[in-house]
Amino acid sequence: MKQDYTIPHPQSVFWENDHLVLLDQRKLPRETVYLHLYTPEEVWDAIVTLAVRGAPAIGIAAVYGLYLGVRHVTGREEIFFSELERMVDYLSSARPTAVNLSWALNRVKTKVESFKGRPVSVLRQAVWEEAKAIHEEDVRVCRKIGEHLLPFLHDGMGILTHCNAGGLATGAYGTALAPLYLAREKGWNLKVYADETRPVLQGSRLTAYELMQAGIDVTLICDNMAGAVMKQEKIQAVIVGTDRVAANGDVANKIGTYSLAVLARAHQIPFYVAAPSSSIDLATETGDGIPIEERPAEEIVSGWGKPTAPEGVRVYNPAFDVTPAEYVTAIITEYGVIRPPYRENLRKCLRQTMTV
Ligand code: MRU
Repeated sequence: MKQDYTIPHPQSVFWENDHLVLLDQRKLPRETVYLHLYTPEEVWDAIVTLAVRGAPAIGIAAVYGLYLGVRHVTGREEIFFSELERMVDYLSSARPTAVNLSWALNRVKTKVESFKGRPVSVLRQAVWEEAKAIHEEDVRVCRKIGEHLLPFLHDGMGILTHCNAGGLATGAYGTALAPLYLAREKGWNLKVYADETRPVLQGSRLTAYELMQAGIDVTLICDNMAGAVMKQEKIQAVIVGTDRVAANGDVANKIGTYSLAVLARAHQIPFYVAAPSSSIDLATETGDGIPIEERPAEEIVSGWGKPTAPEGVRVYNPAFDVTPAEYVTAIITEYGVIRPPYRENLRKCLRQTMTV
């Protein structure tokens, strides 16, 4: 089931006949390899090893993984629900920081629970329908985020982004990159600067790649160049995605985002966070409560083929950081633009029932 809309970048997650297909993001940009997955264990592994990554994309992959896990379950309803619960816990454990993962899995679980008492075949079908709905909805959500961000941009503007919050990280369009695709549709020429994003290089391998595929003007910089580029007045806005927004507006995103926010403040550059409502976690009071994933040392000392540090060196490799809400100019969701005070306005936003 490839999407029937035209998107300006490769599609990273889709269902084909009876299985899940993922564009292997570990291999980009050099090789275009598709993984064909038939079991929840394969999906779990793809999430852990970053074959699929980006908060919305891992949520989508996980719910298809959930379907793969329960589609052959037969027998009593209790057996179905206990297997569903086990699979939700298992797939949620793949990565801790992006709340979209557990949000998506629990949304499917809640939906299927509303069908209690119906035959197991109906319950299995309900898992499939909700997984598909989450996937299709994400495309509309991302486009809406782009529409709400577009008024902050203008032709010729310089934008800095970090990591990859693009089409590859979502159902389509991305969150932070969505307005860039919409600006392109309008014929604007934005000058995008992509941070390389050490240690796994999502900025250079993925953001630069997908923007170039779409014919968007992108310039790659190393992470430690951001301050100098801002000082040279090449940047008029920073736009990033997020893995989780706490109730007070603190924002978890790829490691290095916090430094960028501080730099943006020092240079009086607006710092925008593109966040689908599925990334907003009102149950977590502040950024201090957001679990930060630590990844293997190899990503830093020998990530890309060659050793880059003395053998045995101690390494600290947090994959995400938290930007305090005070540095965030606005959070842009599918429902619109949220400004401080975030504690109050995030709640108001989530109360909306608007369908996108
Ligand atoms: O470790 P990754 O590549 O999954 O980290 C991804 C990010 O930090 C993205 O900015 C975030 O998930 C938003 S994607 C729309």
